[in-house]
Amino acid sequence: MFHLIVITSFILIQTYLTVKVYRFISEFFKNLKIKRILSFTLLTIITYFNLSFIFIIFFYDSKPNQHSDFAFYTFFYPSGVWFGMSILLFLIFMIKDIILLIYKSFYYIVKKLFIQKARKTETNFSESRRKFLKGLSAGLALPPIFGSLYGVAMDSSEFEITTNRIKFYNLPAKLKGLKIAQLSDIHAGIYLRKKKIVEAVKIVNKLNPDIIVLTGDYILNSERYIYPCIEAFSKLKATIGIYSCIGNHDNMVNRELIVKELKSANLNILIEENQKLSYNGQEFYVAGTEDLWYPIKPNLKKALKDIPEESFKILLSHQPDIFDEAVKRNVNLTLSGHTHGGQISIPFFGMPLNIVMFVTHYISGLFKKDKSYLYVNNGIGFVGPPFRLNVPPEISLITLI
Ligand SMILES: [Fe+2]
Repeated sequence: MFHLIVITSFILIQTYLTVKVYRFISEFFKNLKIKRILSFTLLTIITYFNLSFIFIIFFYDSKPNQHSDFAFYTFFYPSGVWFGMSILLFLIFMIKDIILLIYKSFYYIVKKLFIQKARKTETNFSESRRKFLKGLSAGLALPPIFGSLYGVAMDSSEFEITTNRIKFYNLPAKLKGLKIAQLSDIHAGIYLRKKKIVEAVKIVNKLNPDIIVLTGDYILNSERYIYPCIEAFSKLKATIGIYSCIGNHDNMVNRELIVKELKSANLNILIEENQKLSYNGQEFYVAGTEDLWYPIKPNLKKALKDIPEESFKILLSHQPDIFDEAVKRNVNLTLSGHTHGGQISIPFFGMPLNIVMFVTHYISGLFKKDKSYLYVNNGIGFVGPPFRLNVPPEISLITLI
């Protein structure tokens, strides 16, 4: 059923875009030969991407991380990028068409009400309007196309290593200098391959962290990708240990298997529980919660059970919206992911626009409330289009001071 919905929406979007581009070619190019060549090229490209994408939907978990680079770069990845680009183009053209429809309706009413005046200006206005709309359509298509390509080339490959030195109120002196590295939202799958996770692991190890935390969503939509993910994680090195929590994708796909694999790899998955740790002889605690979208809601009281009130507490929660409750329970530092920082974030006068802004205000980075801090890591992988724009994959390092 899920496959059917995805394929139907994809075909509808593709048909809509094909008609749009075909109409643009027909209006813009007067030479019949050029028109035919362009239409044929367009049809070939769209057919190739559509068939590839439908193939991927059915075979995405057939050979986890064993597809060759050739298959990946000529087949899987371009189709995925095209899928993302088409959604952006579709949204932009839909918005334009809706605005145009409202405008046309308004113009029709005005014309009806003021017939004489409208008749006088109709011819000139329609001609100039057609020219304007033709230019507008071409103009509107450029940002998603170049944005997606820029995202693929610039913001999806290189890791961004963010470092934050956070001054905590009443931090025990012996905890000063404690380094916590965070990886989140790996989303291992057809587009996020083992070598990318291996690369991230190498970078994390070079940071020499005392603790490494993994804040959920290890896989995208197939449980089979947990194995290459765990294989890569097995090389992680931290002086105190590695601690993890569960994400919504893990719960959706196969919670039991993912919990089992994380446990057997000594990645200390914490679901409504905590562990006492020690740094320079000073004890502190790391706790983990259930994901907010799991049918059984997180129980912070249980997660923080038996932790002495004055102890320094770190909470791992896949989704950042737990933060308000964590503040009330005197958690010192909450570490989350889930948002991908919006994944595709469009700069807009210092206030980036992305889809996550409608879901939470804890989108990315560091937040402070009372004496508590929250850090939201932008993650590494993708959900939906296999690229990022303005939000590179992130490895974060927090030092307590
Ligand atoms: Fe998530």
